[in-house]
Amino acid sequence: MRRLNRKKALNFVKEVDAFPKVPESYVETTASGGTVSVLAFTAMALLAFFEFFVYRDTWMKYEYEVDKDFTSKLRINIDITVAMRCQFVGADVLDLAETMVASDGLQYEPVIFDLSPQQRLWHRTLLLIQNRLREEHSLQDVLFKNVMKGAPTALPPREDDPTQPLNACRIHGHLYVNKVAGNFHITVGKAIPHPRGHAHLAALVSHETYNFSHRIDHLSFGEEIPGILNPLDGTEKVSADHNQMFQYFITIVPTKLQTYKVSADTHQYSVTERERVINHAAGSHGVSGIFMKYDISSLIVKVTEQHMPFWQFLVRLCGIIGGIFSTTGMLHGLVGFCVDVVCCRFKLGVYKPKSMSVFDGHVNSRTPLLSENAEH
Ligand SMILES: *[C@@H]1O[C@H](CO)[C@@H](O)[C@H](O)[C@H]1NC(C)=O
Repeated sequence: MRRLNRKKALNFVKEVDAFPKVPESYVETTASGGTVSVLAFTAMALLAFFEFFVYRDTWMKYEYEVDKDFTSKLRINIDITVAMRCQFVGADVLDLAETMVASDGLQYEPVIFDLSPQQRLWHRTLLLIQNRLREEHSLQDVLFKNVMKGAPTALPPREDDPTQPLNACRIHGHLYVNKVAGNFHITVGKAIPHPRGHAHLAALVSHETYNFSHRIDHLSFGEEIPGILNPLDGTEKVSADHNQMFQYFITIVPTKLQTYKVSADTHQYSVTERERVINHAAGSHGVSGIFMKYDISSLIVKVTEQHMPFWQFLVRLCGIIGGIFSTTGMLHGLVGFCVDVVCCRFKLGVYKPKSMSVFDGHVNSRTPLLSENAEH
């Protein structure tokens, strides 16, 4: 009984065979068929090869959603050098709630404002990259993919040993602020808390020492990721006037970065800047200093590195191979048919429309036509 069932099953499987075997003697090989096959195999190999590179490649996918994280703190990473002595300047943050944020995370280090030759070279390269970034946005994807691998973006230490006085102050470190808009600023005098906000003790500093020329070596928000360039990194401003006000308006966009190497919560930002000379006599009021007003976008960007899945690669490969195989077969059949019609039928004058129906697009469909011809 079981054997009978098995036999039935075998018969059924035999019946549904879509690849019936043709005896060797029925198969005719032709020179044109061979040429077409060689061409088809070459095309298949080439396309499969390119397809492999497409498979190996990765790309960045950008998604946007509303940021639902209200409670976490925002980290600000700062590295700014101001052309004033450290005892004269103070940096701190005021947020929208007018609360002064403790700025003990910041260090004040006396340095020389002018860069050493090697640092200058490094700085120039950085500016070059920044310029390219502004023009070519796809470069950002490359940077994202290569984070961690990338060269450190921090300014290298001085290689020379200059005797110049330490005329500048490097303010660096990080601060944690509330996730609301705020204002980070560097002005004359150390900040002192005040019932209505805060004040800077500026009275003791002579106006002649004011110089808010500065260089931003690093300004980023969130996790610090080596290899990522921020828009303000490398900015250098030299002012000819003592009372200069520099303003940066920054919009921070929280960014979740997920590549095959890193996964990080970082922040990108865009910035517009403005500077003016403070001259109360000429009606230009304000406080000289460096002011960075930041605001946080309510949208969050998710950047994910993506890759073609292996099954999709296989499907595309099958598509290429099968597609080329049947297309070239059909073309070969069609061309052969046309050649037949033009050179044989018209010459012999025995054109018969009936035989048109024999053509079905396959390479071997011409054989019956020819034998039919021979009979007449
Ligand atoms: C401020 O310092 C920079 C760098 O040392 C210098 O080039 C500039 O002339 C100074 N500006 C003023 C107003 O002293």
